[in-house]
Amino acid sequence: HKRVAILISGGGSNMVSLVDSMTGDHPARPCLVLSNDANAGGLTKAAERGIPTASVDHRPFKGDRAAFEAELLKPLEEAQPDIVCLAGFMRVLTGGFVSRFQGRMLNIHPSLLPKYKGLNTHARAIEAGDAEHGCSVHEVTAALDDGPILGQARVDIEPGDTSEALAARVLVWEHKLYPTVLRRYASGDRTPVLLP
Ligand code: GAR
Repeated sequence: HKRVAILISGGGSNMVSLVDSMTGDHPARPCLVLSNDANAGGLTKAAERGIPTASVDHRPFKGDRAAFEAELLKPLEEAQPDIVCLAGFMRVLTGGFVSRFQGRMLNIHPSLLPKYKGLNTHARAIEAGDAEHGCSVHEVTAALDDGPILGQARVDIEPGDTSEALAARVLVWEHKLYPTVLRRYASGDRTPVLLP
């Protein structure tokens, strides 16, 4: 099996969808769930599923991203992942860190990339008057929310939508998209997935 490390910052619902997909004939298995916050709810969910967990608090590093990443690398390299999945990991990674995992690190982002890189994607899509929104899984490169797109799922924006309601509907599709892309990716297939 391919070994998959998953990086999270919060509740970890995408992490759970990935972990729960990696059974049976799936070509990968989870080897580590790693967070920048020891209180991230997702760490408990991972531990309940018998997955090794670790955390490295970014705050003591006071913006010294390279120093934070040097600590983050220790448990990550120890786990010897073949694939690294960012799943609601909210720290920007440096080019140096990314280059260590070039071609084997994925991210899920809540927009139809290349639209709305960065934060507050749902509010920005509503504000722009877009008819549709969604989520993307892409290979991570040094540029933020950039890199080859491996899959997207589309969600209609409804009249009167709020960013919270839209985010909840997009999240449902994130939980379908990310496991679908990971399964393919772990078997060497990079053809983009389009949902629904
Ligand atoms: C998800 O919607 C994910 O796409 C987004 O954060 C949420 C995490 O939820 N990620 C980003 O915004 C990355 N910049 P989760 O912890 O329940 O998976």
